[in-house]
Amino acid sequence: MKNILVTGGAGFIGANFIHFELQKHKEINIFNLDALTYAGNPRNLENLPDPRRYNFIHGDIRDRQLVRRLLEENKIDTLVNFAAETHVDRSINNAQPFLDTNIQGTFALLEVSREYYSSGSSLPEFRFHHISTDEVFGSLNPTDPPFSETTPYAPNSPYAASKAASDHLVHAFHHTYGLPVTLSNCSNNYGPYQFPEKLIPLMINNALAGKVLPVYGDGMQVRDWLYVEDHCEAIDLILSGGRTGESYNIGGNNQPANIEIVRNICHILHHLAPGSRRYEELIQFITDRPGHDRRYAMDTEKITRELGWVPRESLETGLQKTVEWYLENQEWVRSIYNRPDYQSWLGEHYGTRGGTQ
Ligand code: NAD
Ligand code: DAU
Repeated sequence: MKNILVTGGAGFIGANFIHFELQKHKEINIFNLDALTYAGNPRNLENLPDPRRYNFIHGDIRDRQLVRRLLEENKIDTLVNFAAETHVDRSINNAQPFLDTNIQGTFALLEVSREYYSSGSSLPEFRFHHISTDEVFGSLNPTDPPFSETTPYAPNSPYAASKAASDHLVHAFHHTYGLPVTLSNCSNNYGPYQFPEKLIPLMINNALAGKVLPVYGDGMQVRDWLYVEDHCEAIDLILSGGRTGESYNIGGNNQPANIEIVRNICHILHHLAPGSRRYEELIQFITDRPGHDRRYAMDTEKITRELGWVPRESLETGLQKTVEWYLENQEWVRSIYNRPDYQSWLGEHYGTRGGTQ
């Protein structure tokens, strides 16, 4: 049996990864360490394929004693670090939690992993895999080539800077101490269980509720979008075949402008849940995000060449599936939407910039 410690597995991508791994591999146990911040949701882990091979531990990645005990008692051979503060807009309002979890938290995991690995109590094939983002590379001009693994880091938001710092620490622990690490830098994910503050679920749920669809600035910012299950498959391949010390770029090989995404969502909803008025009429251009990165694009040639990974979903099929998932899981959405902390985030964030929710 393999024993995987997943951190942040009650969040969007981590939960999808746990579903994916338990479905794909019969010979693994998963231990999920999650602090259950506003973004963590135990409901994301209901209906797991084989719950007997899943264990939840409520705790913080900065708790070294706890992490040490988890590694040793469960003979962990693989640690996958998803735990992070992830919303760029929140990092602009208050960067402190981003520094605490993304930098200090990753550092704590690295320190404990190094002790565990060098004490000989770990299995020889121990692996520390760190989940990162394309945002560490900064922003591209319209004609710039896409980010590759050798593009210099140039993070712009406090979120991106905190992720860049954690990536540097991960590389440094490999270079200096020989800790067997791999990293992956991924573009924007979308799919089931994404917290409703992010663009795609926010637009789906606002449209269904007849609320404003708040597009920042001119809506011409470009992102690369990856269906979350494709991301999970890429991580799975890196864990089995990725070279230690290496990072791998992952992306969906598409670059639509935000406004196109929002219009596509309206179009899909028009067919699946026709309303009395056209959803597109709800679009409003509102005050831009400060320091908003204009364009991201990913060169995924390395992971394709080395590990044979290509995304299975196109943006069209992935968006269709995602809208269907949110339509079928309105109760899950409401359980977050009705929380006072989420309501106050919406009021605080959108109230002042024109997209009153
Ligand atoms: P998310 O915000 O949905 O979930 C984060 C999870 O981490 C939550 O369950 C939360 O409770 C947990 N967490 C936060 N602080 C913690 C701490 N100190 N100790 C333990 N657990 C803690 O995030 P996500 O969108 O699933 O992103 C997961 C990872 O993928 C992050 O590292 C993020 O930077 C990276 N990433 C995300 C995207 C994306 O589009 N969502 C793209 C590229 C990379
Ligand atoms: O690129 C990978 C990153 O993608 C991850 O590292 C982050 O954790 C993740 O949150 C995501 O960051 P973005 O800032 O790109 O995602 P978000 O969904 O917040 O916004 C996507 C785009 O949509 C961005 O250009 C801002 C815009 N936007 C977002 C919101 C929430 C709007 O126009 N209106 C909105 O209300």
